[in-house]
Amino acid sequence: MKTLFILGVLLSICSLSLSQECREQLLEDVDFPGSDIQTVISPDVDHCQQLCTQHPACLFFTYLPAEWTQNNRNFFCLLKSSSSGEPKVKTPVQGVTSGFSLKPCRPDPKPCLPRMYPGLDFPGADYRALFTEDAEECRRACTQDPACQFFNFQNGRFTIENLRYTCYLKFSWAVPTLPIVERKAGVVSGFSKKAETPQWGKPVCQGKLFLNTNITEENVLVLPAASPGHCQNLCSAHTVCASFTFVSDNFNCQLKVNGNAMILKAKAGVTSGLPARFCRPDNSWVNVALEGVDFGGSDIRFEVTDDAASCQRTCNEDSNCQFYTYVKPDFPETSIRRRCFLKRAITMPAPPRVTKVDNVVSGFQLRNCL
Ligand SMILES: *[C@@H]1O[C@H](CO)[C@@H](O)[C@H](O)[C@H]1NC(C)=O
Repeated sequence: MKTLFILGVLLSICSLSLSQECREQLLEDVDFPGSDIQTVISPDVDHCQQLCTQHPACLFFTYLPAEWTQNNRNFFCLLKSSSSGEPKVKTPVQGVTSGFSLKPCRPDPKPCLPRMYPGLDFPGADYRALFTEDAEECRRACTQDPACQFFNFQNGRFTIENLRYTCYLKFSWAVPTLPIVERKAGVVSGFSKKAETPQWGKPVCQGKLFLNTNITEENVLVLPAASPGHCQNLCSAHTVCASFTFVSDNFNCQLKVNGNAMILKAKAGVTSGLPARFCRPDNSWVNVALEGVDFGGSDIRFEVTDDAASCQRTCNEDSNCQFYTYVKPDFPETSIRRRCFLKRAITMPAPPRVTKVDNVVSGFQLRNCL
């Protein structure tokens, strides 16, 4: 009995260390069936591996490439996880590629994605169209616009004549978004220092907020945010956000379009403000520990720490952690007391769809390649 117990402990230590090993190698013609947590779309296996790395829970994946024909599932990047960190089964399947998350490899948080994808369209997420002479110039346009994450260019042989030479700039979130923010007694939440977007070379500005003020403009998007400063961070990263209002009651961050006039109205409990795209606003929101606030979901893993301050340090030191929730020692449910949940969101360019189209070229911005 005792030996069995020790064996069990040894086995679990082994699997723990295995799952924390850096394994960059891709396994061609190998499928990891089952253990799926989410399916995302990706133009190639390397991008899929980066998505798995940035997905909070993904530990390994299987990728179905462009040539995959079964059930229209080409470009599927199947994100997977298991309690041991290992795929339960590895089976040979011609044409698919599997591999592991690069989380243990101290991955670059902003991977350079230099590949061009001729014959692939990344439909959706457009925010601007312009004309450029070739795909390279379209990519330069994308690289120079901080909101642009990926693009699609239609060349001089594109079937629809009057859409030739069109360059579409496309958006996905490059700063962490939080799926759930809610009040919960006995927990503390906050961000990693890394959540502050370094904007070298930009002059410092105040990041002015209008306290107890609503901006009566139409919302483009409403999403959860932790604080007025975090809401400003989201507005600055968005393509068309002209101003924002943060509602502290329900943690709603309302991003607003550009109207002809900005009408400010007194309203208790809400804070409004403007994006800071060309200057570096006060980033103090990043260091604030929010008492009684829970950032739900998005867990990478947890560690046990003595207090919220050590939890934030743990998050700062883990290259994968962007935000955290700490369960205080007096939390009602004893089993999760002192747990420091490390969390993250995907912030690399992630096209919502990928399709095969003749005479187009798609790709990603090169800002991370310098
Ligand atoms: C702000 O004003 C707009 C327009 O009147 C309204 O739709 C919106 O609900 C207000 N927001 C808040 C937080 O009161």
